Amino acid sequence: MFQDFVDVWTPVAFSGQLRADRPLRVSVAGTAVALFRDAQGAPAAVLDRCPHRGVALSLGTVIQGGLQCPFHGWRFDHAGRCVHVPWNPEARREHLGAVAIPAYELAGQLWIHTSLGTHAPTLPTVHDSLLEAQTRITGIEMIWNTHWTRVMENMLDWSHLPFVHRASIGRTLVPLLGERLDTLIEEHEWGWRVRTAHRGSPRPGMLDFRRPNQMNLHIPMTRRRLTLTVACVPIDERHTRLLLVAARNFARPAIFDVFFNRANRRIAEEDRAIVESSDPPEIPPASAERSVRTDAATLRFRKYYFSRLKGDSLARTPG
Ligand code: FES
Ligand SMILES: [Fe+2]
Repeated sequence: MFQDFVDVWTPVAFSGQLRADRPLRVSVAGTAVALFRDAQGAPAAVLDRCPHRGVALSLGTVIQGGLQCPFHGWRFDHAGRCVHVPWNPEARREHLGAVAIPAYELAGQLWIHTSLGTHAPTLPTVHDSLLEAQTRITGIEMIWNTHWTRVMENMLDWSHLPFVHRASIGRTLVPLLGERLDTLIEEHEWGWRVRTAHRGSPRPGMLDFRRPNQMNLHIPMTRRRLTLTVACVPIDERHTRLLLVAARNFARPAIFDVFFNRANRRIAEEDRAIVESSDPPEIPPASAERSVRTDAATLRFRKYYFSRLKGDSLARTPG
């Protein structure tokens, strides 16, 4: 389970996608998860597999904050405990539980921790601007046909901007083509911050890599704040769910959401076909591709991926 993506928090969907009365299925790193809301409205998650006959719990319903299997009506609470078995009042329900996964809600998104249990040793983190009271958050989802590591590297790569995005976010770099640009990387406890520098001076704008799979792009603006965040969520070897979030402290009425979402989608669509053409779909070790100085940020991610994530998976649970 959770092949090459173990023991990390990842957003998996937007809060509004999870209703009180209906579960939501998400696939993360090859593992299907059923999300639902408990009686208090807090998100809960279990492996999307009923311990009785293996059917998808996400096809069931939510009754009084418990997830009810669609097949024979067994019901499970937020911790995966079996709380009801129709026809069998004498059943030893303590042996009939589903497998719980830690879940959380933060910054308008639903998160899971890719481990088993109801609690993880840490909590997820997002950039501060997503948590401020005066921030308006909106977001959209896209599915790309490639491994998440290619998408993640694309998000950390500034040298493609004046080519792929020459008419949008890369416009200011076009006049500098032909010059030398440097990459400045700042280490933080959550990951690292990337800036470019021209003739020794940092240029406006910066992006953050937040482990394991988020990028925050800070758009330079005087007095206003706009942060575009992309989470690259592994679905399986060939598919990635992108959660594209725009957080702003201006133009806050919901009616403007559509504008920010459309801009976010348009920028991502500029990358999409190019990134999906990467061969192989999963990033190979650095030695398998040619790199130059301006690939510093993506190479750093590659090192992180191969040292921390690649090769680990949770053992299959019994039953
Ligand atoms: S398969 Fe879930 S209750 Fe039977
Ligand atoms: Fe891009």
